[in-house]
Amino acid sequence: MPEQVMGVMMSIPVEFSAEAVKESSLEAFRPYGEFLRSAEPYSSIFINNQWLTPPKAGAELEWGQGWYYDTTVARKHEYWKNIKTPQATKDIVQLRKDLFEWGYCLIEDGLSEEQYTRMRARIAEQAQAERELGIAYVVASQQHVWALVNKGDDFVGCLEHNPKSVQAGPLIEQILNESLGSKWNHFSFLSNISYPKCHPQSMHQDQTFIAPYNPSEAPVLVNTMYILQDVDEVNGGTLHIPGSHRPNGDGGVNGLYGKLPKPINLEAKAGTVLMFDGRLLHGGAVNHSDDFRYVITNSCVKSWIRQQENFLLTVSPEVLQNASDKLLLRLGFQSSITSNLVEGYGYMGTGQIGDENGAVVHVRHAFDDGTYRHVGQLTMTDVANADDFTLQKIQRRHESFRTPEYFEHLHALNAL
Ligand SMILES: [Fe+2]
Repeated sequence: MPEQVMGVMMSIPVEFSAEAVKESSLEAFRPYGEFLRSAEPYSSIFINNQWLTPPKAGAELEWGQGWYYDTTVARKHEYWKNIKTPQATKDIVQLRKDLFEWGYCLIEDGLSEEQYTRMRARIAEQAQAERELGIAYVVASQQHVWALVNKGDDFVGCLEHNPKSVQAGPLIEQILNESLGSKWNHFSFLSNISYPKCHPQSMHQDQTFIAPYNPSEAPVLVNTMYILQDVDEVNGGTLHIPGSHRPNGDGGVNGLYGKLPKPINLEAKAGTVLMFDGRLLHGGAVNHSDDFRYVITNSCVKSWIRQQENFLLTVSPEVLQNASDKLLLRLGFQSSITSNLVEGYGYMGTGQIGDENGAVVHVRHAFDDGTYRHVGQLTMTDVANADDFTLQKIQRRHESFRTPEYFEHLHALNAL
């Protein structure tokens, strides 16, 4: 029976009907299905380590039963106390080794006392105001304060690794460049606030978004945690399993996880900066104290990964007007052939700092002014009146290849 599509009678081959496609797929050769449905790496992690099962929402937490959240810091832990896990240091040689071997490293005094005190006060005030307004994001394990990029100059400084805001900035930047390659973007930048009696988070990898892919060669995400007060087993020092960035443990075969050692709480002084591999198993801990516990997390990813915070829409016009080329680059405002094209603008971009051929910020400025006009459907009769598209203005000002010779080439093609 011919089918009517958009008002036209069409005869569609029967092989393309939804019923025929479904029928022919039932017992078919589908090579990737098993892998895509494998739910790894979490299948092997949870099957071989059932004590990692997270508590149900709203359930009473159980103590003395061996659950993952019922733990302490390394030096007090039965298993970990005799093992030399990473200690805070300023020595980049040791930091590199720790990050590679254990999946994390601790930068001693990465923030000065002045820096962490200033940032903690700013976060505490912001978080309280967001709760008061009812706009806060509070989940069972934490309050999250998102979009820090708009919420204080020091946060912009951290995103730029400016020593005025984070004294270890150049060292952090070097480790990121070495771990992710030079092309990386900010994925998110938020404060994670553990509140008294919160639930623990599930243990997870921060790069879970690529699961079941689990590359062994290198991480695609590195997280930098700015620790704004002393943390330990009492106030919710982050749970982590040292070395779990590599599939391992008893019985771990073919890249899957076997039996893992139990997690520990992070123990670190205020001002310490924790850097960890996107494959490290970790999670927010229970806060047994009567106060909030403040840290900031800044995940950075390979530049081909979609960002968790949509910075192209998130950054306020005020911050954008003053943004440095470095900030724009890292927030994803430099497009290249494979990312963030707007109506084609950016295809000739290199993705490099300050490259005008892919400076998407010009698009945002026009949106902020309320003047952006899209190209849309064109006919030859529109052409005479169609000279005020925003794309055209941006091209004329910022695309270096749009030379008289290039226009000649366009006209020559149209004359064919
Ligand atoms: Fe995480």
